[in-house]
Amino acid sequence: MSADASPLSMGSSFEPLITERLIIRPLIIEDRDPFFAYRSDPEVACYQGWAPPTLESVEDFLRAMQEVIPDTPDTWFQVGMCLREENRLIGDIGLHFLPDGAQIEIGYSLARAYWGCGYAAEGLTAVLNYCFGQLNKHRVTASVDPENQRSIALLERLGLRREAYHVKSLLLKGRWVDDVIYAILRDEWLARSQVETVLRKRLPGNARDRFFLPF
Ligand SMILES: CC(C)(COP(=O)(O)OP(=O)(O)OC[C@H]1O[C@@H](n2cnc3c(N)ncnc32)[C@H](O)[C@@H]1OP(=O)(O)O)[C@@H](O)C(=O)NCCC(=O)NCCS
Repeated sequence: MSADASPLSMGSSFEPLITERLIIRPLIIEDRDPFFAYRSDPEVACYQGWAPPTLESVEDFLRAMQEVIPDTPDTWFQVGMCLREENRLIGDIGLHFLPDGAQIEIGYSLARAYWGCGYAAEGLTAVLNYCFGQLNKHRVTASVDPENQRSIALLERLGLRREAYHVKSLLLKGRWVDDVIYAILRDEWLARSQVETVLRKRLPGNARDRFFLPF
């Protein structure tokens, strides 16, 4: 290990993304306890394909994540969402780099205590900026259970479009479930960003609070 290697830079070339309230950074072994706590919460795990059965399984997962090089086609890379003030892990965002090298599927989980505060939208906005800006991707998708209303509201708030409804196409916990596909293209994201930047500049402070302006 080089003398200046820090836990944030080890095993990954992902530079942390800073937002108003969050740091989005690679997951580290020290995230084990909070990651296990929220990921094994039945309400958080309800629509997920995987919930960690033990703390050891989380350690294995976190170690494996440190080996992943972001933007490797056909791999998942999971980053942590932390409160800036406390460096406390409150959720994670998964990036599935699709085999074509031009598209990414996203996934996300947030500890229940932090739902309803806009943290997921804030973190995902930074990640979408990373996908379309730094990585210059063409399209980002998300796959969601039609009953997962909070997740659907989040995707629509971010500007993703409902593109497909697959009936009983996913085998989840032994049950065939429906799957809705949401997507956004690079051009759509950039156009949306421009409109919101103009709005942010023009609206007076109190009016700005009535709109969701993610950056
Ligand atoms: C999906 C999930 C991340 C959504 O979390 P969330 O907190 O509802 O999402 P957001 O960050 O968009 O927050 C929106 C809420 O925060 C409120 N909010 C408060 N301050 C806000 C701000 N500054 N900016 C935006 N929204 C804000 C919004 O009004 C909205 O409230 P509402 O829920 O009462 O309508 C969360 O429910 C979760 O982790 N679920 C379990 C895992 C899961 O299902 N993952 C998806 C699999 S596809």
